Amino acid sequence: MATNRTFTMLKPDSLEKGNTGAILEKINAAGFKIIALKQTRMTTSDAQAFYEVHKERPFFGELVTYMTRGPIVAAILEKENAVEDFRTLIGATNPEEAAEGTIRRSFATSLSENAVHGSDSDENAAIEGGFHFSGRDIF
Ligand code: RTP
Ligand code: MG
Repeated sequence: MATNRTFTMLKPDSLEKGNTGAILEKINAAGFKIIALKQTRMTTSDAQAFYEVHKERPFFGELVTYMTRGPIVAAILEKENAVEDFRTLIGATNPEEAAEGTIRRSFATSLSENAVHGSDSDENAAIEGGFHFSGRDIF
């Protein structure tokens, strides 16, 4: 069954550049309701677990280093068709291929440092939201 929730992280490059507010504003303007939100920092074992699906990929070590080098902002978002609509809002993984007006086109630096994460399925949205938040954090 499709749910109306997705999970996002503003990645360390977004916080380093001071883009937290601008990105959250775009998320709000696109009709997503923020139902959980926090600034936090992932440990190496957090990032390895979060991105475990990529552990055999050549960029895994670089990805873990990037995602742990500074704080992130984690959020659970609610909207009809949330997972798919949020992936549209953030744009392609590589910002050079991301459509004009998307978050990655506007704020990402490169394929590796691409500003935001968005869940790729309802199942992963629930797992990833649960990774960062307990039920009492969600409103
Ligand atoms: P995300 O999971 O963070 O929302 O990104 P995505 O679905 O668009 O892309 P995915 O294939 O899941 O890759 C996860 C993250 O790994 C980094 N990456 N680096 N250097 C590279 O070739 C490469 N490829 C991917 C990016 O940070 C990407 O978002
Ligand atoms: Mg992904």
